[in-house]
Amino acid sequence: MIRDRFERPLGALRISVTDRCNLRCRYCMPAASYRWLPTDSLLTFDEVERVARAFVELGVRKIRLTGGEPLLRPGLPDLVARLARLPGLADLALTTNGTRLAEAAERLRAAGLHRLTISLDTLDDAAMRALTRHGSPVDVRAGLAAAAAAGFAGTKLNTVVMRDTNLDQLEGIVRLAAAHRIEPRFIEYMDVGGALEWEPGQVVPGAEIVARLAAAFGGAERLSRGEDPHAPARRWRLGDGTVIGVVTSTTEPFCGACDRSRLTADGRWFRCLYAPSGTDLRALLRGGADDVELRRVLRQGWAAREDRGAELRVGVPDRGALVPLTRLRADPHLEMHVRGG
Ligand code: GTP
Ligand code: 5AD
Ligand code: SF4
Repeated sequence: MIRDRFERPLGALRISVTDRCNLRCRYCMPAASYRWLPTDSLLTFDEVERVARAFVELGVRKIRLTGGEPLLRPGLPDLVARLARLPGLADLALTTNGTRLAEAAERLRAAGLHRLTISLDTLDDAAMRALTRHGSPVDVRAGLAAAAAAGFAGTKLNTVVMRDTNLDQLEGIVRLAAAHRIEPRFIEYMDVGGALEWEPGQVVPGAEIVARLAAAFGGAERLSRGEDPHAPARRWRLGDGTVIGVVTSTTEPFCGACDRSRLTADGRWFRCLYAPSGTDLRALLRGGADDVELRRVLRQGWAAREDRGAELRVGVPDRGALVPLTRLRADPHLEMHVRGG
């Protein structure tokens, strides 16, 4: 097993398959115009598979496909089928905004996808439009139903909590998740690149989220981290038996247990959500590197890793948006929708 400077193993990889999205969530893409990655810069499925295989050979056991919105990548089920066949891969999941899941769920399941995480921040139609500019909770609910009908188990719901936006929605989301037997995850609003409107006052600490839900559901009991000690969520059982996860990336970061890195759709490898730069694996592949060389670069890159971006942000005085708009426009790789949610 390969370990970084802080003894953290190389365990999980998040692969963004496109930077495009059909929504414009204010916590992720708040500006009006974007510099998209050029289409010919995207890794082909052959290239993604090659990189993924190298990571799995080095010990990665969990792969998550993200975007942008991954379902916008043409032919995605083909890529899923290729990755699902990688020997040694224990978990293949996909994060989606759910708006187009109804039409895709069955094909993804048939291709061998193990699990889904669906983003849903509010159940209110007008509020969702205000937050995402295009989305409707009706479509996401149809996606949830389609996921269950297609046979997916272990589905999770991601809710980014923002004080003036959706604090009133948490109970409703817990009830919806319980009705579908899926686990809701409440995520603290993070000051990642692209979150231009971020301000500390809009962050709702995980402790406050739990206290609110404990009051509404008759208590909350902390559970052990479960099967994966590296997972970002801390789990709680509410008084009615519902299990929830809380991701405290902003107030109580968990960099010490972070085994994740990220591959952008154009092949840049980032070893932290907050890292200013990454390794250009596309140039390596297209420059003719063989698999031995590819694995050497990955091994070396991980061994040198000392990122703990979220922890370093905690002490920043007058904390505001991480990256100003001018820098985002100069380098789209700094954006969360490029790096992968
Ligand atoms: P499972 O594989 O289902 O356990 O998922 P997960 O624990 O990896 O969680 P998921 O990928 O659904 O991530 C949930 C959210 O946590 C993300 O959308 C981010 O907002 C946040 N998050 C995930 N990974 C990281 C990370 O490495 N650093 C930080 N700071 N936040 C993260
Ligand atoms: N803060 C927290 N989570 C975020 N995501 C995107 N932007 C942010 C942010 N600023 C995560 C959410 C969403 C996923 C696609 O990316 O979990 O559901
Ligand atoms: Fe990992 Fe960086 Fe997130 Fe910390 S901020 S948990 S090191 S990705």
